[in-house]
Amino acid sequence: MTIGVIGAMPEEVALLARDLEGARSERRGTRDYLRGRLQGRDAVVVFSGWGKVASTSTATTLIEVFGVDSVVFTGVAGALAPDLAVGDVVIGAELLQHDLDASAVPGIARYEVPLLGVSRFRSDARLVRLARAAAGRYLTERLAADVGEEHLREFGLHNPAVRTGLIVSGDQFISSAARVAEILADLPDALCVEMEGAAVAQVCFEHGVPFVVLRAISDRADHAAPVDFPRFLRTVASHLTCGVVMGLMAAL
Ligand code: ADE
Repeated sequence: MTIGVIGAMPEEVALLARDLEGARSERRGTRDYLRGRLQGRDAVVVFSGWGKVASTSTATTLIEVFGVDSVVFTGVAGALAPDLAVGDVVIGAELLQHDLDASAVPGIARYEVPLLGVSRFRSDARLVRLARAAAGRYLTERLAADVGEEHLREFGLHNPAVRTGLIVSGDQFISSAARVAEILADLPDALCVEMEGAAVAQVCFEHGVPFVVLRAISDRADHAAPVDFPRFLRTVASHLTCGVVMGLMAAL
């Protein structure tokens, strides 16, 4: 059993690589795939780059070339649900491409992947359950020690929550309240927005490979997002997502 771990941030992949025992690197395309053992499990860890094409090619290579049997995707996301705060963790039970629209063609619904007949890809139920538990443990037991009081205060990380539900993906960095409202008008149950998860989900679905996507909220997808996002990335996100992945790997 080999687990593919895809990170959307070089910082978090660097932290995971630090914990990878017997790491060997193999370059394919422009990606460095790191094989080794994480928490006693065979794993391949890789930075995917950003966007649906980059993550699609990375997930495909993990499955086709490295033979992984399950995929864990981690990174950050912008909040859509009004009650989500920076530092909360979202486990994607369902993934959908918010920028996919072939509905001009009769018989194809908005968001439906043409010829596949699927709009929402479901994550593996067991991986969702384990990721949720690992995130809860990390937030209560480890976050403060890893990140430090100063950064907890800076981002108002008092009591971060774990939520499970719909994550939407598209090739856009969302940075306006108007665009958030547009997405929520059609997809009121969407919790957060990012740029890769649903693409990885589709690849895994087509290969019959179980997957889960987990995201730390870095911004509110509004006008402040371009500033909030890199600040959170540098100081908190990599510890948080790496810590949750390590907890998940230990529980598998
Ligand atoms: N990832 C983190 N924040 C995001 C945002 N606001 N839009 C898209 N992807 C993101």
